[in-house]
Amino acid sequence: MMRADNLQKTFNPGTPVENHVLRGMSLTIETGQFVTVIGSNGAGKSTLLNAISGDIQPDSGRLFIDQQDVTRMGAWQRAKLVARVFQDPMAGTCEGLSIEENLALAWQRGEKRGLGLAVKKAQRELFRDKLATLKLGLENRLSDRMGLLSGGQRQAISLLMASLRPSRILLLDEHTAALDPKTAAFVLELTDQIVRDNKLTALMVTHSMRQALDHGDRTVMLHQGQVVLDVSGETRRQMQVADLLSMFEKTRGEVIDDDALLLG
Ligand SMILES: Nc1ncnc2c1ncn2[C@@H]1O[C@H](COP(=O)(O)OP(=O)(O)OP(=O)(O)O)[C@@H](O)[C@H]1O
Ligand SMILES: [Mg+2]
Repeated sequence: MMRADNLQKTFNPGTPVENHVLRGMSLTIETGQFVTVIGSNGAGKSTLLNAISGDIQPDSGRLFIDQQDVTRMGAWQRAKLVARVFQDPMAGTCEGLSIEENLALAWQRGEKRGLGLAVKKAQRELFRDKLATLKLGLENRLSDRMGLLSGGQRQAISLLMASLRPSRILLLDEHTAALDPKTAAFVLELTDQIVRDNKLTALMVTHSMRQALDHGDRTVMLHQGQVVLDVSGETRRQMQVADLLSMFEKTRGEVIDDDALLLG
């Protein structure tokens, strides 16, 4: 369970570029729930994810993971609880290290000690098995440098790394946005599979209304730092992209003419 309770965050307070980004953001995600998040640029989606991961500190409000109040815990203290995949395929992996070294680092997420890259035989077998599930032939390329891989292959490995050890919540921030449509579809399918197989609690940000409705079991829309729409169950099942789009337009109080992407 993750609970954000009335989060407030202002960047650069008291300056001409003051920006009140989170304005009473509240959201509870039950264990095992997979929530998709939509909202226009600057709505506060990544800021919410940064607050959950501990990369930024809210000015006020509280954040709980399970029963634990993590509001003032640093990102490294939460590393065992929170797993994350970023939009940029380069961001989640280390391009100078081999595939197996990257996996070894992911294996140590949140550990205080043992930051070695030496991979033991049993571990190598495990990594090989995990890589084989991606069906990309990467199980035969354990010692290849990550930098040699395509964006899609890197995102697939980032997902694997994020799910290698248990976490209480998986954060996906537009993790398919930099991929071509076919690769994006593959990585999304993989996401569904990994979330399902590991019974993960997940939050996925997307600009595609189609993806928002087709994946996960609940969709929330953020606008100006608040949740303005929250749909699940039968209402969501009945919902078409056009319905979501018109709600999105209503919230913005303007007609969308710029983001073709939003149509998914
Ligand atoms: N660390 C920071 N310092 C200053 N301003 C920030 C910081 N992080 C985010 N912002 C600003 O906060 C606002 C909300 O940003 P955020 O990244 O949360 O939006 P978003 O909903 O993820 O948008 P997008 O769809 O473009 O990714 C933006 O105006 C952004 O410039
Ligand atoms: Mg963002």
